[in-house]
Amino acid sequence: MSCQCECGTCKSPQFELIDRIVETHKDEQGALIPVLHAAQEALGYLPEDVQAYIAEKLNVPLSEVYGVVSFYSLFSIVPKGKYKISVCLGTACYVKGAGEVMAEFEKQLGVKVGQTTEDGHFTLEGCRCLGCCGLAPVLVVNDNIHGRLTTNDVSDIINKYKEIKQ
Ligand code: FES
Repeated sequence: MSCQCECGTCKSPQFELIDRIVETHKDEQGALIPVLHAAQEALGYLPEDVQAYIAEKLNVPLSEVYGVVSFYSLFSIVPKGKYKISVCLGTACYVKGAGEVMAEFEKQLGVKVGQTTEDGHFTLEGCRCLGCCGLAPVLVVNDNIHGRLTTNDVSDIINKYKEIKQ
């Protein structure tokens, strides 16, 4: 858990960040999930070395941390794309064609649901009802909602977020 300067004494910034997160939650009962959640918010995902560090800091078995991370779909052990495309697969959206929209994204992005494009730009996910069924079928890209979609909209949405400068 030491830094990359190889001095052997200082920690990498990500572990210093986790130290602060653990400090915030350490007196809470069931601190593991809030700590994992905050760590993922900060780092974008929970790689194995981070899980091991959290287990050590909270003094819980590593198997328990792995178990929680793999059980809850909100946790990810791989980096997410810069833009997360979440297609609503709730009933109202599904009956209005969300499945076809999802299939078109898979085809055009060259990934399956849950995967990230090789360039790290997009992660494609399915999600439950977003609470705006009147706009079905709906998807959200990060915090931006797009509604009343057809498969013809897919390339425009991909191009819109590709064109946004890094
Ligand atoms: S089912 Fe998709 S927004 Fe409600």
